[in-house]
Amino acid sequence: MVKPMIILFLLGALQGAVGWIMVASGLTGDAIYVKPAKLALHFIFAMGLLCYTFWFALSLLVPPSQRQTNKGIAKWIIASLSVLLLQLIYGAFMAGHKAATSAPTWPDINGDMVPPNMWRSEEGLLNLIDNRITIHFIHRGLAYLLLFMVLYFSWRLLKMQTGKLLSAIKFLPAILVLLQVVLGIFSVLNSVKIIPNQWGIFEWMAQLHQLVAMFLLLALIGVYYLVRSGKEEGNG
Ligand code: HEM
Repeated sequence: MVKPMIILFLLGALQGAVGWIMVASGLTGDAIYVKPAKLALHFIFAMGLLCYTFWFALSLLVPPSQRQTNKGIAKWIIASLSVLLLQLIYGAFMAGHKAATSAPTWPDINGDMVPPNMWRSEEGLLNLIDNRITIHFIHRGLAYLLLFMVLYFSWRLLKMQTGKLLSAIKFLPAILVLLQVVLGIFSVLNSVKIIPNQWGIFEWMAQLHQLVAMFLLLALIGVYYLVRSGKEEGNG
């Protein structure tokens, strides 16, 4: 266990360093919030640490007999994890920019499905990380894409003969992604009720939305752990 312990220690130290970089970005001039890009960096590093810890725990706790290689589903989960990574970054942009109130409508974004003001020419590529409406559009679009991908591989899992552990968790990603989309929608719609310095319905929704995102990530990792191809398996 020496190697994983060293990696865990280093990831923990890195997280502390990135945490400070993020906090420092909110201590400049008269800033009262941290920079969204640095919030995103801190959040993603935290997720990396969480995933590594979980993977390490799985490698200790899951008996090899519970693993059932399915390369097709494993590839879909990797693709879903890639989209989720981007989605988590955009979630942090949403939170960091306090973007919810700039388009508190659903399914449209302030009356449009494709808003006209997503590309301010003077900002160029910065629109992708600074323009609240562009961030809304990308965060919502990625959510629908992820929903489709997760439901698709869950349907394939449904048709697959699965062992005890996989049967117990195989629908978690589908349940969590559906819940996550609903919480996102409720967050957007309830953002009109935000009262500064008060904890209300929006704050509850947004916190749950962040928590469920982490559980969704762990659920994808858990299912991937069970279906990924490995040297020791041959029952695919
Ligand atoms: C599977 C789909 C989704 C995932 C994984 C996801 C993930 C996240 C995460 C992780 C955050 C918070 C990041 C942080 O606090 O640092 C966030 C924020 C947010 N998301 Fe999503 N999201 C999803 C779908 C949606 C949808 C469909 C909507 C709305 C239609 C939405 C609206 C929001 C809003 C308004 C915030 C900002 C909340 C705040 O200000 O604290 N999300 N998202």
